[in-house]
Amino acid sequence: MAILVTGGAGYIGSHTVVALLERGDDVVIVDNLYNAKLMVLDRIEAICKKRPIFYQVDVVNQEALDKVFTKHKITSVIHFAGYKAVGESVSKPLMYYHNNLNSTLTLINVMLAHHVHQLVFSSSATVYGEPTKMPIVETDPVGGTTNPYGSTKLINEMIIQDVVKANPQFRAVLLRYFNPIGAHPSGLIGEDPQGIPTNLMPFITQVAVGKRPFLSVYGNDYPTPDGTGVRDYIHVVDLALGHLAALDKLQQSGVSIYNLGTGQGTSVLDMVQAFQQVSKVNIPYQIVPRRPGDIAVSYADVTKANKELGWKTRLTLRDACEDAWRWQKQNPHGYDSFNKL
Ligand code: WQD
Repeated sequence: MAILVTGGAGYIGSHTVVALLERGDDVVIVDNLYNAKLMVLDRIEAICKKRPIFYQVDVVNQEALDKVFTKHKITSVIHFAGYKAVGESVSKPLMYYHNNLNSTLTLINVMLAHHVHQLVFSSSATVYGEPTKMPIVETDPVGGTTNPYGSTKLINEMIIQDVVKANPQFRAVLLRYFNPIGAHPSGLIGEDPQGIPTNLMPFITQVAVGKRPFLSVYGNDYPTPDGTGVRDYIHVVDLALGHLAALDKLQQSGVSIYNLGTGQGTSVLDMVQAFQQVSKVNIPYQIVPRRPGDIAVSYADVTKANKELGWKTRLTLRDACEDAWRWQKQNPHGYDSFNKL
């Protein structure tokens, strides 16, 4: 009996695999390594003293995926696999729609063929588009997504909801992440963006480690206390535990949707200050024009997940800054091969 984790070699996937292995679950990872490195398997084993089964498989490859389901008794699936760079999705929409939608369609087809009916899907707060009120609740309108990446998350949610309507035995939990940050406290696994980081925290840690000269703050003219963008930054370890709570929810039929966040908003400059306090490293920054597609404020109402999943975040922004900084210091080049254990 095993849990299949697609994209399990990635940032959130690897932290979730660690939590599953530490809970005693057997895990099978399928990952095409488009945005991940094999070294993460060694790191997971170093943390858990147990190595997950791994197949370098692209989830859109139905024949290869089918073989995995034939070989292993899969009880449920956590589906992370997908491209996730907002900016890249704008310049390469067909690549995003093809990969992110066909991977989900292929996965569900194979699940149904093997009578596997429990799915946790990695969705995103971007499905809310330009929210009109804060905090965001799960019943708020979705749509108006501002980039193909966000649109693929929304369409995947619709696909899964329609599959459940047509197959009552199929159960799904859709998890809408806010902004994942931080790393496992061991410093052995963490966020390893390819190329120039688009997300705030990995850019800050690369400035701190001397890889980037300064942080560009995308606009300080938003209607927020200090003018910079406000987001709900959730520690990736808390986020991983949210997936374990969601798996337990799959005993109930239908589709359940949950925001996974802290319920608190943090501005860009708040984050810079928090990181400087923790790391004792100065983070030079320059205010530059807004980034197209950015929204001013986004943070979650997490009441539903608290009540129905019995889950809430326990780690703080300070914890996330400390853990992100430890990961970056110990791995200045991420998982690149010369950066052995
Ligand atoms: C956060 C804030 C920026 C970088 C996206 C996806 C979401 C999720 C996380 C994919 C904003 C500001 C950022 C920088 C800055 N999934 N910023 N300088 O855009 O809220 O969410 O990534 O990984 O689905 O939509 O995250 O970290 O890019 O930006 O000033 O160099 O930091 O303007 O206010 P975002 P982010």
